[in-house]
Amino acid sequence: MKILVIGGGGREHALVWKIAQSPLVETIYCAPGNPGIANLADCVHIPADDIEALLDFAQAEKIDLTVVGPEVPLTMGIVDRFQAVGLEIFGPNQSAARIEGSKSFSKDLMKKYAIPTAAYETFTDRDAAVAYIKAQGAPIVVKADGLAAGKGVIVAMSEEQAIAAVDDIMLDKVFGAAGASVVIEEFMDGEEASFFAFTDGRNILPLASSQDHKRAFDNDEGPNTGGMGAYSPAPVVTATLHNEIVETIVKPTIAGMVSDGCPYSGILYVGLMIKDGKPRVVEYNARFGDPEAQPLLMRMKSDIVPVLQACARGNLDQDAIEWHDKAAVCVVMASGGYPASYDKGFEITGLDAVLAMDDVYVFHAGTSFQDGKIVNTGGRVLGVTGLGSTVAEAIECAYSAVDRIDWKGVHFRKDIGKKALNR
Ligand code: AMP
Ligand code: GLY
Repeated sequence: MKILVIGGGGREHALVWKIAQSPLVETIYCAPGNPGIANLADCVHIPADDIEALLDFAQAEKIDLTVVGPEVPLTMGIVDRFQAVGLEIFGPNQSAARIEGSKSFSKDLMKKYAIPTAAYETFTDRDAAVAYIKAQGAPIVVKADGLAAGKGVIVAMSEEQAIAAVDDIMLDKVFGAAGASVVIEEFMDGEEASFFAFTDGRNILPLASSQDHKRAFDNDEGPNTGGMGAYSPAPVVTATLHNEIVETIVKPTIAGMVSDGCPYSGILYVGLMIKDGKPRVVEYNARFGDPEAQPLLMRMKSDIVPVLQACARGNLDQDAIEWHDKAAVCVVMASGGYPASYDKGFEITGLDAVLAMDDVYVFHAGTSFQDGKIVNTGGRVLGVTGLGSTVAEAIECAYSAVDRIDWKGVHFRKDIGKKALNR
């Protein structure tokens, strides 16, 4: 088979790494890919959101299966375009991708099907939004309705901060059209976890549990980021909780999408808040998590290609995924200053030393080749992922690799996985 993976971050490197192990695969292309992915796939210089160019490439190369990594092409309708010409593609179509692309769509779905989540209201009028904030009080959460590159959520600790967020989004339009409406919702406290399930639109195949670390600094301090590290399995998701998430959240979500005329296929990402053993949905995403994909895919024993194909074809009948017994921990090494502005173009050293280590893999996210060297060019640069027979051993393994890698200004959290040890 010939497979095309779309995207060029750590998540796509992990997907390519896993797909490359399948005996079903002859050639992997990745658009646009990155220097790490280039060791495993032919990187094609097409941006992930240039749907027409991707379609031309897939047709010319007779690609058997296309796997979409990021949300933007999904919400732009890449799946609809590929399917219209008879190409197999993994991911939800445009209508189903609204589950991530529109917060009001996803909140209305949850309300309609009684899926546990925070109370909320949607507003298109600034003054009405402000009145609601004053009536509810703080803490409260303000969300731009549309996609805002992960920056559209403001967890406001005061009414003033919440009103300022509404003004930024609705008056100053800092997220453009994504802020034409806002969702204002109840603040939930608890512990977050990420839950994933493959689905063909009707049948589901849940993955092992995982947990991200969204804040920039240790002890969950500082601004929200795309994710500074992740591990799997996550002990906060007990076997009982796993079943409850499947029964009260994943199944009604997938069934609700069918009832509403927009069946969802691909991988469903449910962001959860867990309090006193009860899960509530923070948000849905229409794709794999990044960095959660790195530890999850390193632990996955089953061949991923038949699963991706069955989701795309609508005939998912596999009822379980096999997992390696080991735990996996991914530490994200970021450019100094991320998630705000950062300096780039510094040579990354130590990658060769890590190549020789057992049970460690370095997924590239924001790297480039420059004059024969690998340099940092993105906010999140590397996802250093280690395996161990326990989470504690996986942490040690990942950090022993992190310690060998360096560039000017590098920043990473020192406490990835610590929450698992506290349990
Ligand atoms: P989202 O983009 O919806 O994942 O939101 C980003 C982050 O904001 C989440 O991972 C949570 O940490 C936080 N967040 C979102 N909604 C809420 C909420 N209702 N209560 C508390 N924290 C939230
Ligand atoms: N790790 C968070 C995300 O992929 O959105």
